Amino acid sequence: MLKFNENGKFGMLLFGDLHEKEDYLTSPKFRDMQKLMKAAVDEYKPDLCVLLGDNFDTGLCKRDPALYEQGLRDMLKPALEKNIPVAFIMGNHEHDADCDKEIIEACNRIEGIIIRPDGAGGKADFYEPVYSRDGKKPLACLWFLDSNNLYEDRNLSHYDYVHTDQLEWFKKENGRITEENGGIPLPSYIFQHIPVPEEYELLRKAKIWEYPVSVKGYGTRSNVRYVGAKGTVGYVGEGPCAPDINNGQFDVWQKAGNVKAAFFGHDHLNDFSGYARGIFLAQHKTAGFRAYTDGCRSCVRYVELDENAPGDFYQELKRFKEFGLRSESLGPIFRTITDRQSMALHFCAQALGAAAALTAAAYTVYYLTAGGKTNVKK
Ligand SMILES: [Fe+2]
Ligand SMILES: [Fe+2]
Repeated sequence: MLKFNENGKFGMLLFGDLHEKEDYLTSPKFRDMQKLMKAAVDEYKPDLCVLLGDNFDTGLCKRDPALYEQGLRDMLKPALEKNIPVAFIMGNHEHDADCDKEIIEACNRIEGIIIRPDGAGGKADFYEPVYSRDGKKPLACLWFLDSNNLYEDRNLSHYDYVHTDQLEWFKKENGRITEENGGIPLPSYIFQHIPVPEEYELLRKAKIWEYPVSVKGYGTRSNVRYVGAKGTVGYVGEGPCAPDINNGQFDVWQKAGNVKAAFFGHDHLNDFSGYARGIFLAQHKTAGFRAYTDGCRSCVRYVELDENAPGDFYQELKRFKEFGLRSESLGPIFRTITDRQSMALHFCAQALGAAAALTAAAYTVYYLTAGGKTNVKK
């Protein structure tokens, strides 16, 4: 049972996209991630940690579930050794090896990890009410949802989403919880891997002079460059990789009326957040150093609920270097680079790439037409 602590708070520490791998015991990247996890757990003393998906290579689970289980135990040691429970969300890469059952079983063998296949069709959707200090009354509800893997027709959307039967399960369970609470809905918080398309409402089209600090949209939005809209805070480091098909999950939350915030993983660079039509949406970058990252800007997000202010929450980001940590896996550039420098470099690389492509195209046209003919000697 999750409960508000003796200070009347309930603190959650979020870790995005750790992408750990079998070679973790010898990897300086793993040691850097562990430094961040340990420093964050020590500083925030959370009541719950949340893994936002793409957590650990599931190919290992397929080959050797016992080794995978040990990997999870070692990866989560900073939380588990302090008896802090860890909610485990399935990311798209958790589905890569097609062994959902084995992953859930491995997690369930580890005391402290929370994951249950309670959702429609046995999907790893589950919820946890947060009770008052005395354990008598639920005051909030945390929803952990499985946003699946790739969409079946990649011409329509690269990534999948939370399916309709899962949304029906959410509506049914949310209604039941409200009924059991005397008709009063609980303030609810969503945690899932792949973001909803409404995340783009936190962005706006970049003006041409803003291009060096803008990002290209993803999928069907890739012909537009974006920057954060008014009211959006945090770093927009890549086009959010939401599905191109909108199956109405955000509308379900709006109609439910009690969803206060949703926290997503999946994008490794973005850490922006803001309100879309009254619901707080927060993109969470990787807290690891494995897959594509922006180095020392890897961070954790702390979210705190208040027993005396139902529906209110406090949240903040804290980055690796802000904990005063020193990386052993990153070179000097990645240790020091800022958000703005990173975006400008990325834009320059794209511009140079475009210039090179244009030059090559112009030369080809020249060679195949006039240029080619003038060089022919008879
Ligand atoms: Fe990922
Ligand atoms: Fe992902």
